[in-house]
Amino acid sequence: MLLTNVLIILYEEAYGLHATPNFTVVFLANLPWLVFPLVILLRMGLDERPFIHPVRQSDLQPSHSNPSAPVEVSQEATLSKVRRPNLPVQKSFADHYGPWALVAGASAGLGAEFAEQLAARGLNLVLVARRAGLLKTLAEGLSAKYGIVVRDIPQDLAESQAAERIAQATRDIEVGLLVYNAAFSAIGSFFQRSLDDHLLELSTNCRTPLALVHTLGQRMLARGRGGILLMSSLSARQGSPYIANYAATKAYNWILAEGLWEELRRQGVDVLVCCAGAISTPNYDASAPSRSSRLSGAASTPQTVVASALAGLGKGPEVVPGFGYRLSAFAMQHLLPRELAVRIMGNVLRGMYTA
Ligand SMILES: NC(=O)c1ccc[n+]([C@@H]2O[C@H](COP(=O)([O-])OP(=O)(O)OC[C@H]3O[C@@H](n4cnc5c(N)ncnc54)[C@H](OP(=O)(O)O)[C@@H]3O)[C@@H](O)[C@H]2O)c1
Repeated sequence: MLLTNVLIILYEEAYGLHATPNFTVVFLANLPWLVFPLVILLRMGLDERPFIHPVRQSDLQPSHSNPSAPVEVSQEATLSKVRRPNLPVQKSFADHYGPWALVAGASAGLGAEFAEQLAARGLNLVLVARRAGLLKTLAEGLSAKYGIVVRDIPQDLAESQAAERIAQATRDIEVGLLVYNAAFSAIGSFFQRSLDDHLLELSTNCRTPLALVHTLGQRMLARGRGGILLMSSLSARQGSPYIANYAATKAYNWILAEGLWEELRRQGVDVLVCCAGAISTPNYDASAPSRSSRLSGAASTPQTVVASALAGLGKGPEVVPGFGYRLSAFAMQHLLPRELAVRIMGNVLRGMYTA
């Protein structure tokens, strides 16, 4: 808004009814108001959390020359640091979220990428999905490539006992990071999809992540460290026609994660929700949005989404990967009336899924 206002003022000064004879002076006087928003935009583009810096270990050390001398540290300063355990004190990723990470929905697409990038950070992995063959191949590949231990658990996450079985199968290891990535999306007109489909969305996208967060999260809490990452979607931030129930399930994950982030952040457990826009995964491509309105040109890659999500752990409650998606999320949520935002989603999704 600042940028727009200054540009309007400069235009008026250059070409308006009362144009200034000394445009250079006016321009220089307004320059800071041009540079400031541009710097802000640049930082937003370059960094997921442009205005927050993690606390470095050195920040917590006394800076006096004699380390044995007593230091006077104000109680307020000490408390402010002690009260923010979610800001990582430059511990390694594996120290904070290892030694094991569990990826629910790991056999393909984004989940397989989560597995790859977590393995690259040195974490052992528990991989869960239905397609046992894909899981085994992925597990063997990652174990050979990164020298980590990988456990594969073929499991349908829509089943009511899924979380309990996974909790049993991991009771002998320390799962320091839970990534719930699996989802079912019943795309299409609400009444053309069966009630069973909608209920399946609830079990896969809400019931099982809730149960896994509850069981594995308790173990993290007892250890005083860990991380929980739930995959949500930009479709969750307002009503989204043609994926109405899917979007509602994703809103559940968004709100759950946000609340838990605040509740657990003082106890060493970082909770994060990743609200992604379109991602070019096999599932997204197979959903065959109509060619004319297909968002594939704008779709993010799984690599960038996962990197962005993992980088966001411990820095705040949510991540929206991609500058363009962050801007559109901001506009949809804060600039447009909600009804208009829902109508825009309706037009986009109608074009994608009914044309
Ligand atoms: N793609 C996008 O454009 C996009 C946009 C925003 C948000 N997201 C979110 O990002 C996440 C991943 O998306 P994606 O496109 O990679 O999804 P996907 O291709 O459908 O992959 C999901 C993974 O979850 C597993 N899975 C699905 N249902 C399961 C079930 N009932 N039990 C066990 N595993 C199950 C799949 O493996 P099996 O089939 O082997 O079980 C697969 O490994 C989802 O949470 C989605 O909502 C995606």
